[in-house]
Amino acid sequence: MLIAPSLLSCDFSKFGSEIERMDKAGADYMHLDVMDGHFVPNLTFGAPVIKYVRPFTKKVFDVHLMISEPLRYIDDFCDAGADLITFHIESDSDPEKTIEKIKSRGVKAGIVLKPKTPAEAVFPYLDRIDMVLIMTVEPGFGGQSFMADMLPKIEAVRSEIDKRGLDVLVEADGGIGDQNISLCAKAGVDVAVAGTAVFKAEDPAKAIKVLKELAI
Ligand code: DX5
Ligand code: ZN
Repeated sequence: MLIAPSLLSCDFSKFGSEIERMDKAGADYMHLDVMDGHFVPNLTFGAPVIKYVRPFTKKVFDVHLMISEPLRYIDDFCDAGADLITFHIESDSDPEKTIEKIKSRGVKAGIVLKPKTPAEAVFPYLDRIDMVLIMTVEPGFGGQSFMADMLPKIEAVRSEIDKRGLDVLVEADGGIGDQNISLCAKAGVDVAVAGTAVFKAEDPAKAIKVLKELAI
C-alpha cells in the first residue's frame, strides 16, 4: 500500500518544511487538495502555491482538484509540477477533453468519484486513465469519518480494472486510519490518502509505518 499524506492537515505557515517532514517520514505521494469554494464549500490553494513547494521533495505530487472547471486550469497545474492530476467526474468539464489535456502534458490522469456517484460512472474512461480516486467522505474537509459503505464501490472498480487487465491504480481518500486501512487494502486500494491520521500523530514516520503494516 502506498501512503499519500494529505497536506490539507499541515501547518500552512511552513508548507515547504511540512512537505520535507512528510518526505522524511516515508510518504510515497504528496496529496495536494485544491478547492475552489464552489465545487466544494471550502478554499485552499492553487497552482502558484504548488509551484513554490514543488522543490521541497522529489516525491510524486498527487493533485486532487475539487474545482468546478478543471479543464481550464490543467496547464497551470502541469506547469506547477504536478505528476498526477485527479479531477471529479461531477465537475463541469468534459471528462474526455480533460483526460486528453492532462495526458498531452505527459502527466498522469485520474478520475474522482464522490460518495453518491456509482462505480459505473468511471467505467467508460478506465482504458484512458492512470487512477480512480474513490472518496470515502464528502469532499471539502479533513477530519471526517470514513464511510465504510464505499467499500463495495472500491471492490467494483477494482474488479472491473482487473477483469479488463488494465494498469490503473485505485486510491481512496477520507477518514483513513489504523481502524480501516486493512478494509481498504482488502477491497483493492493501492494508494491510501491520510490527513489527520498522519499529521495528528506524534510521530508521522511511525504512523505511516503502522498504516503500511496494517494494510494487508
Ligand atoms: C477531503 C480531502 C482529503 C482529506 C483527507 O476533501 O480530499 O484529502 O484532506 O483528510 P483526512 O484523512 O483527515 O480525512
Ligand atoms: Zn483529497
